[in-house]
Amino acid sequence: VADRSRVVIGRTLSFLGDPAIEADAAVRYEEHGAVQIGPDGRIVWAGALADLPEDARALPRDEHGAKIITAGFVDAHIHFPQYRMLAAPGRDLLDWLERFTFPEESQYAERPHAEAAAEIFLDRLLANGTTTALAFSSSHLVAADALFAAAERRGMALATGKTMMDRNAAPGCLDEAEASGVDSRALIAKWHRRGRARYCISPRFAITSTEAQLAVAGELLRDNPDCLMQTHLSESLREIETVKALFPNDPDYTAVYERFGLVGPTGLFAHGIHLSESECARLAEAGAAVVHCPTSNNFLGSGLFDIDHVGDPRRPVGVGLATDVGGGTSYSMIETMGEAYKVAMLKGRRLSALRAFYLATLGNARLLRMADEIGSLTPGRFADLVVLDPEATPVLAARDALSASIEDRLFAMMITGDDRCIAATYVAGAVWRGTAAH
Ligand code: GUN
Ligand code: ZN
Repeated sequence: VADRSRVVIGRTLSFLGDPAIEADAAVRYEEHGAVQIGPDGRIVWAGALADLPEDARALPRDEHGAKIITAGFVDAHIHFPQYRMLAAPGRDLLDWLERFTFPEESQYAERPHAEAAAEIFLDRLLANGTTTALAFSSSHLVAADALFAAAERRGMALATGKTMMDRNAAPGCLDEAEASGVDSRALIAKWHRRGRARYCISPRFAITSTEAQLAVAGELLRDNPDCLMQTHLSESLREIETVKALFPNDPDYTAVYERFGLVGPTGLFAHGIHLSESECARLAEAGAAVVHCPTSNNFLGSGLFDIDHVGDPRRPVGVGLATDVGGGTSYSMIETMGEAYKVAMLKGRRLSALRAFYLATLGNARLLRMADEIGSLTPGRFADLVVLDPEATPVLAARDALSASIEDRLFAMMITGDDRCIAATYVAGAVWRGTAAH
């Protein structure tokens, strides 16, 4: 592997904690900053350019001027086999799943299809400045295997897992309870903590798993407590009614997952729009997190996530932020931040730009249990970086001239910006050059 030593120069932004809790103490910003990358692609040093260590002064330099260098975005919930099915007009979540999603995911039984899709999917992430994702795959072992392999070839940190789903969907995308355990174990043995890969035990949601399969998922998590666990929870009203009918003896939706041992500290529950106070208290007690997917929720008409209810400081549930492509309508975490801001406004809440950028970087990295490797410009972390152009579009350039602070600059970007703001993406210290074919 080539020596990746260099110094990346520009405005630098990094988080030490959640600005909503620690205020300005959580933010490290340098107007004239630098990030020194070591030969192995990890960050050696970051700070004010004027303080650059002596031994780094002769290194090659990437000059980014007034652009903002920060940790690469982390997408805490996205569906790999939905990479091309954005903008499918479902009446609601369940209609969208049945009519568009399950048929599309059925195609991932074929390894060549999954391999080609994995390259496009990862290019899409990097083009949007997203250097790590927690992705659902399809129910087919070959699709998760192909995605892990493609991420490894690019040196990307990626978490995924084979989706477990053995009922209430098209036969082509279903598995079977016992086989889903066997396949998941094989993938864990092959991929979990191999290089930058992490395995995520992935029962789709309560509606598409039998009790037998949820029990298998619970056993998997008990046997592999270092693995992540992802599923969907309390997204749409018709989904919640269906769960009530399928699991009449459980007091609420969260209780179904609790009964099978699936609510633990590595659990990431997508959506969580309609959670009761009791459900939030139990998720918080377990150390589980809820992942907010605003463009998806608005597109599918699922409802408005209440960030202050879920994250209530008296019993805070961790909150992540994600695109949820293909229910989500954009791969861009910048657009996702803007949509989260608007959802917060509609709920009478506020989401500051600094907090939004924290959620999209260190916040999500923490939820993925990867904050010791990614998510900030801290020495020792991988140099997975995004370089943001606050003047990327005519609208932004004009607006940026009015910005007097980094906070305002970031706010304008999250409200009107998108993938055009991505000036460069670094993976482990190497600039991603894009793939012309896509
Ligand atoms: N619930 C179960 N499966 C899915 C999915 O693929 N997308 C979304 N948004 N919600 C789900
Ligand atoms: Zn989802």
